Amino acid sequence: LREHEEFTKVKNIATIELGRYEIETWYFSPFPPEYNDCLQLYFCEFCLNFMKRKEQLQRHMKKCDLKHPPGDEIYRSGTLSMFEIDGKKNKVYGQNLCYLAKLFLDHKTLYYDVDLFLFYVLCECDDRGCHMVGYFSKEKHSEESYNLACILTLPPYQRKGYGKFLIAFSYELSKKEGKVGTPERPLSDLGLLSYRGYWTRVLLDILKRHKGNISIKELSDMTAIKAEDILTTLQSLELIQYRKGQHVICADPKVLDRHLKAAGRGGLEVDVSKLIWTPYK
Ligand code: ACO
Ligand code: ZN
Repeated sequence: LREHEEFTKVKNIATIELGRYEIETWYFSPFPPEYNDCLQLYFCEFCLNFMKRKEQLQRHMKKCDLKHPPGDEIYRSGTLSMFEIDGKKNKVYGQNLCYLAKLFLDHKTLYYDVDLFLFYVLCECDDRGCHMVGYFSKEKHSEESYNLACILTLPPYQRKGYGKFLIAFSYELSKKEGKVGTPERPLSDLGLLSYRGYWTRVLLDILKRHKGNISIKELSDMTAIKAEDILTTLQSLELIQYRKGQHVICADPKVLDRHLKAAGRGGLEVDVSKLIWTPYK
């Protein structure tokens, strides 16, 4: 991941402490000016307040009464929980989360207007509390049918399937809303890889079940994946032909099996029966 750093603006904060981890940062994040001279920041893993010195954090931990993110727990399965935080109701938390996330997100501009967003924070829970693994943000009202604005898995937790879990979760919310969704652009390299992986897996499974006899529109209705994203995914798998001015799916069973073998792990599943949620109004 070192190559990411070459393209980055001057990095201010080099490492952060968060829960049991010390994490090297990837990119610049516009912390308030009084933090300009800091190489390291100490985050409270629950309220995400950040401090310049370890002793400050230790004092904070004695009086901070949070043991999980603020907001509503909308999903729990085994040791995994998802919390929904309204940026308007928990402004400081939303801002802290954005500062933290920007340390690992390159292309994204930081939104100070956290009011307009919901934050979905995924945690691994044990007897000490719920520890943040990653999150995604979502506009309360998106005109472009975005169902996800920014996504992050914290580096110590990456490549374990949490990214695809977060992506799957964003589509489960879209299904409950009865809408199709797509991630905000641009996607980072890792973002594109993760989305491509998710779309490929989901679409191949359905094509296999339906022996290829299904339209892009039907796929979109079943998955809440936007038709354009379905088309580009199937085109990259060479499962699309253009006939009489129309894109049609041509899924030869042998080709499907070959792709399915290459498609990798399914990852962590979202158990929809454990999602208790109604769309934002
Ligand atoms: N090298 C190669 N492939 C990778 C890597 C990597 N370092 N990381 C992820 N992938 C690919 C793999 O195909 C992987 O599937 P596989 O393990 O089955 O092969 C797939 O992406 C997803 O892997 P997950 O473990 O589910 O994803 P992870 O928890 O690592 O999270 C994420 C992916 C969120 C993109 C993470 O890399 C991250 O937080 N990156 C920094 C922030 C970022 O770039 N976010 C996306 C910006 S775009 C947007 O926000 C709309
Ligand atoms: Zn705290």
